[in-house]
This record gives sequence, structure tokens and C-alpha cells, in this order.
Amino acid sequence: MKKWITILATTFTIQSFAQQDIKLEQAKFKQGDNAEWKELSTNDSQWATIKTGMIWELQGYPDYNGYAWYRFHFFLPSSIKQNSLWKDSLRVFLNKVDDNDETYINGTLIGKTEGWNITREYHLATASSFLKWDADNVLCVRVFDSGGGGGMYGGNIFINMMDIIDNITVNMQFNAKQCTASLHNKSFKNIDGEFITTVTNPETNKVLSTINKKVSLKGGDTYLSNILTNVTERLLISATFKETQTKKTITLTKTTPYILTPSSSAFPKINSAKVFGVRSGSPVLYKIAATGDKPLKYSVENLPKGLKFDATNGIITGKIDERGDYSMKLIVSNVKGKTEKKFTIKVGDVLALTPPMGWNSWNCWGLSVSSEKLKSSAQALIDKGLIDHGWTYMNIDDGWEEPIRDEKGNVIPNKKFPDMKALGDWLHGKGLKFGIYSSPGPKTCGGYLGSYQHEINDANSYASWGIDYLKYDWCSYEEINGKDTTLASYQKPYAIMRDVLLKQKRDITFSLCQYGMKNVWEWGDKVNGNCWRTTGDIEDTWESLSSIGFSQTVQYKYTKPGRWSDPDMLVVGQLGWGESLHATKLTPDEQYTHISLWCLLSAPLLIGGDISKIDDFTLNLLSNDEVIAVDQDVLGKEAKQIVANSIYQVWMKELEDGSHAIGIFNLSNKYQNISVSWNDIELKKSISKKVHDLWRQKNLGSFKDSFTSNVAPHGVTFIKVND
Ligand code: GLA
Repeated sequence: MKKWITILATTFTIQSFAQQDIKLEQAKFKQGDNAEWKELSTNDSQWATIKTGMIWELQGYPDYNGYAWYRFHFFLPSSIKQNSLWKDSLRVFLNKVDDNDETYINGTLIGKTEGWNITREYHLATASSFLKWDADNVLCVRVFDSGGGGGMYGGNIFINMMDIIDNITVNMQFNAKQCTASLHNKSFKNIDGEFITTVTNPETNKVLSTINKKVSLKGGDTYLSNILTNVTERLLISATFKETQTKKTITLTKTTPYILTPSSSAFPKINSAKVFGVRSGSPVLYKIAATGDKPLKYSVENLPKGLKFDATNGIITGKIDERGDYSMKLIVSNVKGKTEKKFTIKVGDVLALTPPMGWNSWNCWGLSVSSEKLKSSAQALIDKGLIDHGWTYMNIDDGWEEPIRDEKGNVIPNKKFPDMKALGDWLHGKGLKFGIYSSPGPKTCGGYLGSYQHEINDANSYASWGIDYLKYDWCSYEEINGKDTTLASYQKPYAIMRDVLLKQKRDITFSLCQYGMKNVWEWGDKVNGNCWRTTGDIEDTWESLSSIGFSQTVQYKYTKPGRWSDPDMLVVGQLGWGESLHATKLTPDEQYTHISLWCLLSAPLLIGGDISKIDDFTLNLLSNDEVIAVDQDVLGKEAKQIVANSIYQVWMKELEDGSHAIGIFNLSNKYQNISVSWNDIELKKSISKKVHDLWRQKNLGSFKDSFTSNVAPHGVTFIKVND
């Protein structure tokens, strides 16, 4: 059911095949369904070939929904059994399947699972009569995709023997001061081995230190090893356990979560975007985002008639009746000093004059979102200071509706949201904005109540609760749209909602979610969309991030203030799409790439992780005002892809002050020295240019003709270039 997800879990943890794994990297593939295709005897020689780590949409089967079969031929050597201490259990590791699978070996069903976000691992008795040792076997996976992305994805697929080593888990924890690796014995028996940890300089591959310890772990025991005491640099840490009896190993490798953003200064600094759009007569709610030692004192010069201002918290409220541009001066002071910034409220038709910034519940809580969970992230957004960098929206995604409307046709929030109006008031009182989610179809993607034929009721309810943002997700509208492929039929449900939103006496930012169908970026403004998703759902993998982020090559033509392309929400921090959360699987460098690229793309920035559990690395990643300023630039341009090859890409965005933000992205798995010549990127005006490092907030000097940077694997050098 999930939309156009993408693939391959490498990244934060470097996964590799073990020596005795039977790798299943490609399969024979056929669309359709036939019970005979599970049989060993089926002749699939004329079938297509497909890779396993990637949904079929990316392999020549766009928009295919329904059944398809994967057939893997593999030789099963009895040597893998002989080399195992345990000889009784064979593992078939399929990774993820979108949506459902039924899996067979030589015609016998070995497992089936429903749901796209579930890792499939089936265990078989090695004595099973259908297994053919020292002979050819066939593994068949019957996949059903109900919509959006389809097929096998998520990373490596393999078959191997379960062994004593499977009782050991290796983990690594980081905090600002140290890195600790741990071993845990899940079994009841003693396990002996060697624990080898190494610290490597990834730029030079020089091993900086190695610790090698003999470990005897009792059943249920955990063993800790302190590896580093000061985690400030980019280092590669690897931890390997080598089990004594089988000599089998398990390894975990991670990059240190190195922080680039310098600490905020004690002096006052205003970080808010320079403009704010509102319709005449609509309530204004605007909090000045500012950093500096607290308490801060706020004031405004030339505050327009109709607005009032709270000097203690910097919140501007009220309304302006006349259309026009209202310029004022924001002033913030503290014991260290005073700062000011020109600010304009544009009273007109267009909202979201800079890309919306905030949080959305989906990537962490999925359908388990609740009022309490939203409030805990909102409170943390304030307490951790993210609000001072401009993070504002708190958006509920899917999962808030009761299944049945009231007798007047109004939607009722379910028991997880006991009082929407009170929740809205609570957020507004703190200077935050309130977002909600629905679908133009009868049901949302998660099967909750949609707005179909109740658009007026819903828009009225949203306004009465104080909603500021609506994400409107296509999903079950497919049933209504049927086989109509005209552009008008794709625009229709959004135009209906546009009309009822415009009738409300408050401003509701309109976010279209339909995964880019019919090139939504070409017409999203016609239905008054403020932003529009351009792709399917993002996941916290490099494949997903890079295939979505680097495919935004034409959207810049249509992007302007109030009209933003949306490559989906940020996959940083604690994620889970449900009750249980995990740290993002993206490496620190991949996360720097993520934020840099999204800022270059002028994307809405919606934090996907649970902010109440935010760690130092993620907090710093989201608190860099120079980086955020690229996203929030008032010119409202989107970056263009200037250079693209298999090793690196360069993206460039024109900024209001005449400078350019440039992202130099390394797509490869090793450090690359990448040169950008001013001529090649069409910055010909002068030969020597000033280069400023945005993540480090540091001037790098003047560079004649070109600039060269040693960029980390999957990482970025993000610079601002001036004549
Ligand atoms: C779709 C959207 C996601 C999320 C879910 C909710 O998959 O693309 O962002 O809103 O629906 O069910």
C-alpha cells in the first residue's frame, strides 16, 4: 500500500554478505499469477531478469500493481551444513516485500507475510524433505502489490545456516563524550570468542587503534567495551565478534556522529525568514525565531494596524484588513546586545512564501500518533530550541479519525485526540502552528476516514480547531477516479478542497500529496497548492534518499514563493512508522546530504523523528541557521542539477543576495576529491570567488577558477559562493 518506496538497507550499519551466504541478487520475474509458477519444473528461461534490492517501478515496470512472481535458482551445498555447529536450521532472508509475499521452495510453502514494512526471515528444518542438498533448488516469491511501489526491496537477500553466532548481537552507542560497543548473548548458554574493535581514519584508511579482547559471555550477558572518549571527528568504528567454535564472525561498522554546526552565539540573532504571507482578514500568528542568551526581549518597529505583539515571547498576532506589503523592523536584545532585521508581511493570496518548516508524525509514529505524542515533540521543539531556528508546524498525519461521522456529517477525532480545539490553542499559545491530514477519497492511505463528499464539513471542522496546514493524500481516491486518466480528473479532488479551504476565515496551507502524478509541479498552483509531493514515500536508506533527492531535476522551473516541490519528509532522528522507533539508518554523512539537498531544493522541511528523543547530532543537524537560510531564501528559487555523473553531483541555487549555494555530493562509497570549476557551473562573472562553508559557518577564502573539496562517501560539501 505504501507509495513508491525505495530500497536497499546499507548505510549506518555496513551490512555485507558473510562468507557462506548463498546470495540471491537477481531473479527471474514475471507479472501475473499462476499457481504452477511455484513448481521446480516451471520453465522460466523466457522470463525477465530483475534485481532484488529495488522495487519493480525502478526496473521498468512503472505503476504496476497486482501479482508478480520472482524465481531464484540456487545450489544448496551440504558444506554449509558441515561447517555449522548447529546443523538443523536454514535461514531464508528475504528482506522486505511490498506489499505481501507467499514464499515457496521447490513448490512447498515456507512462509507468508502481509505488509510492506516488515522484514521477512523464514527458518526451515534442514531435514525438510523438499530441500535438495548438493543440487539445484528454486525459491519462488509470489508478490502482491495493492498500489504504489511493488516488489522485493530493503537490502541483501540470502540463504544461510542458523548458527551459534546468531545468538550474539553487536551494538554501538555514541554520545558527545564516548563511543561504546556492546555484545549481547541472547541464548541461555555460554558463548566464547574474541571481540575486536578498531578505529580508522576514513580519509587515509589508517587504523588508529585496535582493542582485541577474549570474551566469555554467559547466557543473557552483555559485555561493554569503551572505544573512544571524544567523539568529535569523523572516524570509522568497527566491532567484530569471532565465535571460538565455528570461527564465524559478526561485524558492525559505524561512522561517528560528528557535529559540524558551531554552537549558537550568546549574542541575539534573528533567524526568521524575511517574509510572511497571509490573506486579508485572516488571523496572523508569527513567532520571531531568535537565538542568543535568554531572556531575549523582542520589539517591532512599524507594526501594522490590526496587529499586536508580545515583547516577552516575540509572538505577533491580530489581522490586517487591507492587502499590500507591510514592512517593519524586528528587534531582539539581551544582556549581550541587540540585533535587528527587516521583515515584511505580504497580505495577498499566497501563503507559505518560504517553505513550511516543522514536524510531521508519520515517519516516527505512523498510525499510532496521539495528542500526547504530538505534544511531547512540540514541547521538545521548544525546550531544545528548535523553535528559535524557525521550526514551527506541528502536523498530525494519518490515524486521527473515528471510522464514522456524526449525524451532521462531521468527522470526529478518535480517542487519541480527545480535544482538537484545545490542542490547537495549546500550540498557538506557544507560537506553533497546527497541521492535519486527510484524503480526497473515502479512506486515507492508512484506512482511516477520508473527506470524500464531506469536504465542506471537514474544512469547517479544521478551521474551528485552528488548523493551519492540510496534507491531502490521494490514496483511495483512485477508486473514485477509476480509469479516468485525464489531467482534469487528477486535479478535481484538489480543486474541490481548494474551494472550501478558501472559504474559511483562516489560512490553511495546502499540501498536495499524490506522489507527483501527472507532473503535479506543472499545475499544483492552479489548485492553490502551496507544496506538492513529487515522489513516493521516503525511507531511511541511502537508496531511497538518493533516488528521491537527486531525481528532482525539472521541478525548479515551477518553484516560486508559495509553490514548493516536496520530496517528502526528513528521515532523521528516531523513526519507526509505528509504535517502536529506531535511530535513522542513514550515516551522519548521508544526513548532511539529506538536509543540504532538501535546502537546495527549497523543500518543505518537516522533521520525521520523535523530537522528544532527539540526540545531539540530530539537534545540531537541524539547528544550522546558515543551512536553513538557504531553504528559507526569499527569492524562492529551487536548485538546478549542474553536474551529474556516477561519482558525484553538483547542485546550485541562486539566492536573493546574488550569491549561490552549491552542494557538492559524493555518490560513491569512498572519499573523493571533487573539483568544481566556476566556468563549468556557469558562474563566469569573475575569476576569483569567495567560498564560505555553510555547515561549519566558516569562510574558506578566495578561489581562482575552481574549488576542490575532499568529500566523504555519500556526503556533501555545502558552500556559498560570492563574487
Ligand atoms: C501515504 C503518504 C505518507 C503518509 C501515509 C499515511 O503513504 O505518502 O506520507 O501520509 O500515506 O497513511
